[in-house]
Amino acid sequence: MENPVFVWINDDLVPLSLARVSVEDRGFLYGDGFFETLRVEDGHPLFLEEHLERLRASAQAFRIIFPVGVDWQERLDRLLAANGLKAGVAAVKILLTRGVASGLGLPESASPTLVIWARPYPAPSLEEYATGWPVVVFPERRTSFMGGHKSLNYLFYLAARQYALDQGAREALILEADGLVSEGAATSLIIAQNDRFFTPAAASALPGVTVAVLARALKRRGKNLEHAPLTLPEVQEADGLWLANSLLGVMPVSSLGGKSVPLMAEITRFLQGCLAQEARG
Ligand SMILES: Cc1ncc(COP(=O)(O)O)c(C=O)c1O
Repeated sequence: MENPVFVWINDDLVPLSLARVSVEDRGFLYGDGFFETLRVEDGHPLFLEEHLERLRASAQAFRIIFPVGVDWQERLDRLLAANGLKAGVAAVKILLTRGVASGLGLPESASPTLVIWARPYPAPSLEEYATGWPVVVFPERRTSFMGGHKSLNYLFYLAARQYALDQGAREALILEADGLVSEGAATSLIIAQNDRFFTPAAASALPGVTVAVLARALKRRGKNLEHAPLTLPEVQEADGLWLANSLLGVMPVSSLGGKSVPLMAEITRFLQGCLAQEARG
């Protein structure tokens, strides 16, 4: 028999089969909550503080009480151990919802729901990292103040990703309502142009942890990751283009909207090295 999967529901570490969230939970009813996805390498969660900071900021902005007195490192340690995930690469999801509370608006709830679960992460192959991912442009534009938060209202991004998959691509590029380039459905963008690095200055893109860490790493090396408003043709003409998120790390883009993008293997390795070094602390 397979070992059971364990998850944290609030303060209890329980087998998944016994984990219960009320149907009255506002995370279920309205997507009234936020989540974080972290990469874990050999039991070591990467950039945990940065992820918790983003979750805390979103909770505060939407008046969800952020749990206090939680030893996050210890919780993740116990979760990973219970699931046999102390070796190899794993993905951890931290979800925080408002819990059960009636009324529209953002009612106060004394008991938010905190769920933490872990699973093995089937990372893309080395070949994929070498040949890159094709990316298509999602036709529905998005500008929403929700874009800056990793909310449980993720349907727009799931639809965008599916649009890409349906066309044999791996990621969808999201444009802002004004047509400027924003981000991927589940990734931030890094652009290389004339020996400079850029990421879109976009009104409603998620502030990505990976991009922030890369900016820090580049700074240490005397380089900048500049935020600039970018159009689709500008990005399609880039010297190089990469997708970045916590699980993937840095993945080169092989084509965008049917136009091929040069693969700059050396820069891919450089950016991946920057991230790895920051992860080691
Ligand atoms: C819409 C969106 N943009 C960007 C990212 C990258 O964020 P991070 O680097 O914090 O994982 C994600 C992560 O899944 C995302 O969902």
